[in-house]
Amino acid sequence: MAKIIDGKAISKEIKEEVKEQVVALREKGTEISLAVVQVGCDPASSVYVNNKKKACEYVGIRSLSYELEETVSEMELLNLIRELNQKTDVNGILVQLPLPKHIDEDKVIKAIDPKKDVDGFHPQSVGALCIGQPGFLSCTPAGIIQLLKRSDIEIAGKECVIIGRSNIVGKPMAILLLRENGTVTVTHSRTKNLQEVCKRADILVVAIGRPKMITRAYVKEGAVVIDVGIHRNENGKLCGDVDFDDVLPVCSAITPVPGGVGPMTIAMLMHNCVDSVNL
Ligand code: GUN
Repeated sequence: MAKIIDGKAISKEIKEEVKEQVVALREKGTEISLAVVQVGCDPASSVYVNNKKKACEYVGIRSLSYELEETVSEMELLNLIRELNQKTDVNGILVQLPLPKHIDEDKVIKAIDPKKDVDGFHPQSVGALCIGQPGFLSCTPAGIIQLLKRSDIEIAGKECVIIGRSNIVGKPMAILLLRENGTVTVTHSRTKNLQEVCKRADILVVAIGRPKMITRAYVKEGAVVIDVGIHRNENGKLCGDVDFDDVLPVCSAITPVPGGVGPMTIAMLMHNCVDSVNL
């Protein structure tokens, strides 16, 4: 029977560790603050932002909310980020994505001081990751590494296949798996024979953005399947990019949706906020 990887329990474990670190820092006189910037009121973004603020409260990190109108100009947003960069009592800056179309996301990410880039999206953070230097790690892929390690799943020497090449998940995931000595393949919309390539994987990370697309036809017997997708079906029920019920009997371990990768992203954000003190 496949192991269902409990992201909720593992994320709780990490949050407890962060909580202890926050207490230890407070005893030395260091408080940690995260500035959370949301532009507009997209309902999905609001849920994520609220969960991040709740996690801050849980671990003892102060969160500062900046809720900007959908119509805010790029210049105004950039000015706010510059202000937050200057504030010595702000350790981390998080700008919830996506941003409205009239704002250049790359410009905004680049404006964040890399020392406060707790999302790990700044080109300097990504560059540091690529060459193995200290820097913030993108939260979702870093969370997936923790899920694997804390479930005693060996990465070294394994065939790792990633579906999706986004800057937030696919690309940093590839580098992190490589760093753990996995043999990594990144697939995307132009990949030929996707099923065949996926069937080679000992560890399959799915970040494709299509509900239940990955069936057992893509999965090798005994593979570990990590599902990064999150969708709401017509009945309002959450599901991932993987057809969980179909894949469960053939894999050795799988993350559920909800309760798999999702909670890990927030736990790693909290971890990065504490890390900001040392970087
Ligand atoms: N939008 C979707 N995921 C993320 C994330 O991890 N960080 C930010 N800032 N925005 C997101």
